[in-house]
Amino acid sequence: MHIDQTEKKWIYITLVMTVVMMGVLTFYAVGSNIHPPSGFEPIDSTRLHLSEEFGEDNLGLKKNEDGSLTLTMVAARYGFYPSTVEVPVQTPIKIRIASADVLHGVHVPFTNFATMVVPGYISEVNTTFQKTGDFTLLCNEYCGLGHDHMWSRLKIVPKSSL
Ligand code: CUA
Repeated sequence: MHIDQTEKKWIYITLVMTVVMMGVLTFYAVGSNIHPPSGFEPIDSTRLHLSEEFGEDNLGLKKNEDGSLTLTMVAARYGFYPSTVEVPVQTPIKIRIASADVLHGVHVPFTNFATMVVPGYISEVNTTFQKTGDFTLLCNEYCGLGHDHMWSRLKIVPKSSL
């Protein structure tokens, strides 16, 4: 089979580009500790407030019996609850979040915390925040007219101040 020189050149160029792009993706996925989602936990979004874990009194940061930390939150049009959370820096935290209505997304810029919050399922992210400061928890899935105003505060504080 005859392949024209120019055609051959472009086959090699596209192959090299593909390998380079896959390499960049892998580098950042490993370097930033980004994982694809795994497993799923269903929950009845219409009865979140009646569930033990996502009841109003149980939201926020909690210390588990084994000393680990869990942050429980609810996403609902148009806010995240609790609306301000404080977490310690450089400490592993399990974040569990559920939607009370429609599809939302959570994203904290400059951290690796980002996930979709699909109604009917619990989203769980394990992360360690590396820098102290005031961050914004943003909704990044269009969820209605108030989507632009759906955000809350995440304060990452020194370990000793909690
Ligand atoms: Cu919630 Cu957009």
